Amino acid sequence: MVSTLDGAAQHDGHSHPISCPADMRIFGTLRALADVVLVGAETVRQEGYRPARARAEFAAAREAAGQGPAPAIAIVTAALDLDFSLPLFTSPLVPTVLLTGTDAPAERVRAAERAGARVIVAGEGRRVEPARAVHALAGLGYTRQLTEGGPRLLGQLVAADVLDEMCLTLAPMLAAGDAQRIAGGPSVAVPHRFELLSLLEEDGFLFGRYRRPGKPLR
Ligand SMILES: NC(=O)c1ccc[n+]([C@@H]2O[C@H](COP(=O)([O-])OP(=O)(O)OC[C@H]3O[C@@H](n4cnc5c(N)ncnc54)[C@H](OP(=O)(O)O)[C@@H]3O)[C@@H](O)[C@H]2O)c1
Repeated sequence: MVSTLDGAAQHDGHSHPISCPADMRIFGTLRALADVVLVGAETVRQEGYRPARARAEFAAAREAAGQGPAPAIAIVTAALDLDFSLPLFTSPLVPTVLLTGTDAPAERVRAAERAGARVIVAGEGRRVEPARAVHALAGLGYTRQLTEGGPRLLGQLVAADVLDEMCLTLAPMLAAGDAQRIAGGPSVAVPHRFELLSLLEEDGFLFGRYRRPGKPLR
């Protein structure tokens, strides 16, 4: 996740105005290490998600780790209001996964499956349960899970205490306004404590890697 000094997680609906080349390199590296990228449907819609790429510089490491050439994208969605004619669904290297609830619109589920997506029920009614989503992905063999938010999804993952690590870019910018913070939704009873593992800097941007104590580090 990337945030400005005053806590904005986006500007004009996008995160790229608050990002930088080093942030994008880290973003790409984290993807290259992951089995699956878990993301909320609004981020997919706003940021125009495409399938993850296979990158030559990570091919040997992925093969040695028993991973396929690129991570799958797994989208959390209640409505399945997504354009299934996009490459994200029709031509990924690994089928895109949709995590939804038992009451997902049947016609949208069929459209997703026709396009080649894998639909997994991970919650009752319209709501996906974050912990159930994490377990469902692990059941597919996707144990190195990376979430790219957005804030509404990340807030639920925080509340369910299923994050074991946090990579946060702090952009040397002030945005004011009413942009979302990196994690939204109801607050947790007691703030979850993380420990700092590393802190890098480039062009005034800080790149922090944090771990939730007690959770295994991969
Ligand atoms: N700064 C950063 O690092 C960063 C990272 C990512 C995104 N962003 C920004 O954040 C914004 C989008 O984030 P957002 O927080 O609004 O949305 P989001 O978390 O990406 O997606 C929200 C959507 O995900 C689905 N969803 C979330 N939780 C669900 C649950 N428990 N059960 C079923 N479906 C669920 C719903 O999809 P349906 O509507 O399809 O049902 C919901 O509308 C964009 O502006 C993006 O640029 C910033």
